[in-house]
Amino acid sequence: MTQKTIREQKRLVWSLGKFDMRPFWADTDSTLKCHFETEHGALFSGDCLDVLPLLRDGCIDTVFADPPFNLGKQYGKNTNDNRADAEYQEWCKQWLVECIRLLKPGGALFLYNLPKWNIPLGAFIGEQKGMQFRHWIAVEISACLPIPGRLHPSHYSLLYYTKGMPKTFRRIRTPIPLCRHCGGEIKDYGGHRGALNPKGLTLKDVWTDIPPVRHAKFKSQKRKANALSTKLLDRVIEMSTVPGDVVLDPFGGSGTTFAVCEAKGRRWLGVELDFADVVADRLSSDDLAHHRNDDYIEG
Ligand SMILES: C[S@@+](CC[C@H](N)C(=O)[O-])C[C@H]1O[C@@H](n2cnc3c(N)ncnc32)[C@H](O)[C@@H]1O
Repeated sequence: MTQKTIREQKRLVWSLGKFDMRPFWADTDSTLKCHFETEHGALFSGDCLDVLPLLRDGCIDTVFADPPFNLGKQYGKNTNDNRADAEYQEWCKQWLVECIRLLKPGGALFLYNLPKWNIPLGAFIGEQKGMQFRHWIAVEISACLPIPGRLHPSHYSLLYYTKGMPKTFRRIRTPIPLCRHCGGEIKDYGGHRGALNPKGLTLKDVWTDIPPVRHAKFKSQKRKANALSTKLLDRVIEMSTVPGDVVLDPFGGSGTTFAVCEAKGRRWLGVELDFADVVADRLSSDDLAHHRNDDYIEG
């Protein structure tokens, strides 16, 4: 094959790389332009409350939402992270209603937030919107400081609901925990060690092995804050989707969800209010490192 042919092939792949939004628009005349696209997905720059209503009912397999937690943090100039409690919950309910509308029957909704917010929001999703509760996953975090007069907060909540019976649930196995120093097994399985599956233990609903995003190689070069570990998204996506499925993240941040979708052959749709350029940069550069993950996926 000549060099010329290879170059021509590359151009062809690039033109095929445009993401086909037509199956996703509620109105086929929609003219909203995406900010960035790949063969697998499209990112919209704007408020998710403006973008989600433009999408068609039942077109999404999994939603993952990691909104601002209303802790008064500085995000971009358009984000208000300091609302009254009731106002924050009302705002969350508005985009949750849209996310649930967009899910296919059996599709999955993951909501990452403080326990304080996921208690009322979980009740809304389950009792008022009729979604099926699957799990409250406690994700251990090391970044929180102790608060006087309280227990030391050391987990965030990852709520997992499905729209009726889950259409996809793939079992994940995690390696049998070993001592970092001697390499021996940490736990005694009380005489049942021989019965353990050699591929690993069934994933629990307490995740103590999600690394913090500290090292620069795991971060966007233009945005150092708020990125989640790719390992958390690996689990969400492997558990609830198969290749070709569509994942929606309405709060793109620096694009972790989309990077994991790209790596795993899932399609994706995303919205980001202030940092769409950061996501585009991150996805189009080759320097995005993924955290090590020794999970075993069944099925
Ligand atoms: C906690 S961060 C998400 C981080 C992301 N999960 C990651 O790993 O990079 C929340 C993001 O939501 C964005 N945001 C806030 N309000 C928004 C809105 N109404 N629509 C879309 N994005 C919004 C903020 O700019 C911020 O980047």
